[in-house]
Amino acid sequence: MDVNQWPDVEHALAYLAIADAVPHRTEGEEVLLEVLPDAPSRVLDLGTGDGRLLALVRTAHPEVEGVALDFSPPMIERFRERFADVDDVTLVEHDLDNPLPALGSFDAVVSSFAIHHTVDARKREIFAEVRSLLRPGGVFANLEHVASATPWLHEQFRVALGEGRDDRDDPSNKLAPVEDQLEWLRQVGFIDVDCLWKWRELALLVGWRPN
Ligand SMILES: C[S@@+](CC[C@H](N)C(=O)[O-])C[C@H]1O[C@@H](n2cnc3c(N)ncnc32)[C@H](O)[C@@H]1O
Repeated sequence: MDVNQWPDVEHALAYLAIADAVPHRTEGEEVLLEVLPDAPSRVLDLGTGDGRLLALVRTAHPEVEGVALDFSPPMIERFRERFADVDDVTLVEHDLDNPLPALGSFDAVVSSFAIHHTVDARKREIFAEVRSLLRPGGVFANLEHVASATPWLHEQFRVALGEGRDDRDDPSNKLAPVEDQLEWLRQVGFIDVDCLWKWRELALLVGWRPN
């Protein structure tokens, strides 16, 4: 069944409570920041949550105009608190299960641990929609929760996260293998597609819109 628990307050707050403790994520975020253009003027963050990734992008590029998209009321509330005093950041309330709205064009589209909450067919559509939102030469940088290659590796990932045997996987997850996702990016016209960083089930998938 296509479950998505992110609008639920308890679910969203439980994630935010452990977000800083996700092992190695800052390494992936650092590499994501490295692939951004030198002076991006507009950046879109898909599934922004409380705006963690967009805030990192704006720390690296204070002049950037940020557009963020999410559909979870508790997340949107935290996002609005974080950027309360910032003029050039816009939050668009939108469900990623539906086609992306007309948002103008971007130098970079970023995302962190969000798109894996959509089914694979929708992931592929999102990749194509992202490509069309990018300016020529623009980059899509997706720090993502991906599928392990085997059930044993998945268990090892859960152990590394400190999850107990009785903990269950987040039913909102629809994890896809790295290789499949890289191929889907190529199929919709991204170039120089690669996984530039990976730790177990956390991976940075990138591709550029050709000039
Ligand atoms: C694990 S959190 C990550 C939040 C943030 N990007 C970060 O890295 O901290 C997943 C985010 O994706 C959002 N999300 C999940 N499914 C979504 C959907 N169908 N439409 C819009 N946002 C969605 C959730 O509301 C949540 O904010």
